[in-house]
Amino acid sequence: SDRMVLGPLVGSIDQGTSSTRFLVFNAKTAELLSHHQVEIEQKFPKEGWVEQDPKEILKSVHECVERTCEKLQQLNIDITNIKAIGVSNQRETTVVWDKTTGEPLSNAIVWLDLRTQSTVERLLKRIPGKNKAYFKSRTGLPLSTYFSAVKLRWLLDNVKEIQQAVDDGRALFGTIDSWLIWCLTGGKNGGVHCTDVTNASRTMLFNIHSLDWDPELCQFFDIPMDILPKVRSSSEIYGLMKSGALTGVPISGCLGDQSAALVGQMCFQDGQAKNTYGTGCFLLCNTGQKSVLSEHGLLTTIAYKLGRDKPVCYALEGSVAIAGAVVRWLRDNLGIVQTSQEVEKLAAEAGTSYGCYFVPAFSGLYAPYWEPSARGIICGLTQFTNKNHIAFAALEAVCFQTREILDAMNKDCGIPLHQLQVDGGMTNNKLLMQLQSDILCIPVVKPSMPETTALGAAMAAGAAEGVGVWSLNPGDLTAVTCERFEPQINPEESESRYARWKKAVMRSMDWET
Ligand code: G3P
Repeated sequence: SDRMVLGPLVGSIDQGTSSTRFLVFNAKTAELLSHHQVEIEQKFPKEGWVEQDPKEILKSVHECVERTCEKLQQLNIDITNIKAIGVSNQRETTVVWDKTTGEPLSNAIVWLDLRTQSTVERLLKRIPGKNKAYFKSRTGLPLSTYFSAVKLRWLLDNVKEIQQAVDDGRALFGTIDSWLIWCLTGGKNGGVHCTDVTNASRTMLFNIHSLDWDPELCQFFDIPMDILPKVRSSSEIYGLMKSGALTGVPISGCLGDQSAALVGQMCFQDGQAKNTYGTGCFLLCNTGQKSVLSEHGLLTTIAYKLGRDKPVCYALEGSVAIAGAVVRWLRDNLGIVQTSQEVEKLAAEAGTSYGCYFVPAFSGLYAPYWEPSARGIICGLTQFTNKNHIAFAALEAVCFQTREILDAMNKDCGIPLHQLQVDGGMTNNKLLMQLQSDILCIPVVKPSMPETTALGAAMAAGAAEGVGVWSLNPGDLTAVTCERFEPQINPEESESRYARWKKAVMRSMDWET
């Protein structure tokens, strides 16, 4: 049959908290050719616990790869043009598996999970002055339930099979990138056990300056170093696909999803920033080859290292735990929408929250507060309040939380951002984007192809040494076309709503003691 001649293509696995996707891009034009998406189940076995099944995640990846390849073939596109595969993933989520059976030894503990609150308390007692920021200069992170080290500590303390497997030398630890790459490159039959610097920088076991696992941190958390993956750059061949339609294709890009979005948004210059609206919401600002320590509750994290011999770049990050997750909560827990998309219409019908404020601190509060004992509240209710107002308040909460991290970012960087580049699933919600611009009082700019996370991982994979189908030279990068949202309310109104929000945040604090 007549097959279209397109030149090299690159596939990208985007394994997020809410769903898995596989997308295929044209390496010359960055055009998205086809994709497939599967939603992932989140289990809430106890209050504050969030788990996922690593096998379901793996299965969803296989399904997305196979379905996308079928769609490409229906479009008459030859899948042998796919020259590389990139991986981007939800970060911090912790998996331990048995390398002899290939089976996970428990469910994955998802980044949002709060079960480690007491583990954190216990560890804090061993730190001089109970200082949460004690390891920040080394790891970029405060001690928190969020990062992998405490989740791994919890698993070792509480799951007998895991401690046993460690003692027998059968256990491997990894974040989702490691789990997937190990499985996809052969699993128990020779799978490659690795991670990249961006994902490693979210474990709290990694020294972001020496770019190695830190023996002292491993000792502090009492983590055996032989279960940790080898740390590689974000762009190099890790191994080859061992099964399915893309057997033999190299996996050659790996980035935590927020780093991947920074790359996909082409934020390669010092001072360039993006905000991704997924399950959570993450604002990252590239600080180039120097790591900047925040004084306003932001994290220092690795932005990327695009090749073994390439320099490492750092970012300042403002992390918000709950963004898209609040819409999922309106759908699954309150049932006031049937699909996530409907929330825009529901909120738009009211056009205001009517004084209702919703602080979705379901997993405590992340940046800039880092307060695990905060819990969600909806306040300012009257007899008049209805589901439309609550839906509106939920969307506004996403915008206020972003405003808090933008303010922190501006203070840490000194030079205020004059516009915000955004991406992620929620950016399809035009009402949300307009609200965001109104609340920030600066323009919000959205690329016409919002799948920047997947694009970033594809770029890293295509540019890897030995693949070389994607050029990252500034001159060769395709300019992105964008949609802009300009502020439409006056700054005084914006400030007074924001002041109310802050008041609501104070009420959400210290709930769980
Ligand atoms: O740190 C968690 C983050 O990587 C999850 O991203 O897109 O699944 O909300 P997302």
